Amino acid sequence: MILVTGATGRVGYRVMEALADADADATAMVRVAARGADLPGAGKYIVATFDQPPAPEVLRLFDRIFLLSPAIEEQAELEIVFIDALVAAGHQPHVVKVAADGFAEPDCDVRFMRSHRQIATHLDATGLPATYLAPTMYMENLLGAAESLRREGTIYAPAGQGRVGFVAAGDVAKVAARVLTGSADQDRTYLLSGPEALGYRDVAERISVVFAREVDYTDLPEDRAREQMLASGPTPWQVEGMLEWFDWIGAGAADSVTTDVREATGKDARPIEDWLDESRSAFLSPL
Ligand SMILES: NC(=O)c1ccc[n+]([C@@H]2O[C@H](COP(=O)([O-])OP(=O)(O)OC[C@H]3O[C@@H](n4cnc5c(N)ncnc54)[C@H](OP(=O)(O)O)[C@@H]3O)[C@@H](O)[C@H]2O)c1
Repeated sequence: MILVTGATGRVGYRVMEALADADADATAMVRVAARGADLPGAGKYIVATFDQPPAPEVLRLFDRIFLLSPAIEEQAELEIVFIDALVAAGHQPHVVKVAADGFAEPDCDVRFMRSHRQIATHLDATGLPATYLAPTMYMENLLGAAESLRREGTIYAPAGQGRVGFVAAGDVAKVAARVLTGSADQDRTYLLSGPEALGYRDVAERISVVFAREVDYTDLPEDRAREQMLASGPTPWQVEGMLEWFDWIGAGAADSVTTDVREATGKDARPIEDWLDESRSAFLSPL
């Protein structure tokens, strides 16, 4: 049996979908019961959180765990508490953990990757069998540019000329489902990218073609990017993390392109045009 954490989020929801398609026996871990009932699959869920994990006898029901938590300041602390609960339950489940491209590189000083590195070091030390999924930036992050795209026909980002191997969250989920069901190699790290590395100017060009509307890219200085991001909701810790990430992208360190999606799923990673086409209404209609 498979336990899916983060099941209501961008990747986790799609993991539930992919596991339902594969007829796998999946249970979601949710914080609020009402959210569990709406998830894809057979409607199995338990209510718990990372810091208030399920009881050992409940954890022992699951031999595979999909581990995903949000990129927040407490991320390492939360996942480590949860991993320790798995160890204490004593049944050695296989953990499929979502990390991020760069987490395994000691010189990557982006705080999100540092948190994942800290968790991975802890997880490895427990001896639990683990598979790491290290995605590049999700295509879904581009939805943050939807408002400026609608209002000004511009994507703002402090990315310079840096390129990113954007991956669709759905592809990350499909890989996770294959690993969780034992249909893909479990004894490795997957660096998950889309089919090509794109600069933000390339992204603007692709959007122009798919939406048949002229879209530009404006490279923002760090101060203005900080102001814009702080005004849009993330915590100051997350904003500084995004700026570190964009620095890393600008330095040309995030342009990895791999065939790992294909290796795990048998299908090529989704091209950005395809994802944009599907996401058209999210980009073009105000909420
Ligand atoms: N964004 C990117 O481009 C990118 C790239 C590479 C890697 N990543 C990694 O991907 C992960 C984020 O994935 P995502 O975008 O799918 O996340 P997301 O949409 O923010 O979803 C987070 C999930 O975690 C749950 N959650 C939050 N706090 C919790 C707690 N204390 N206990 C239990 N569950 C909790 C949320 O439940 P509720 O619905 O109850 O809030 C939700 O299901 C991060 O680890 C990030 O580093 C992101």
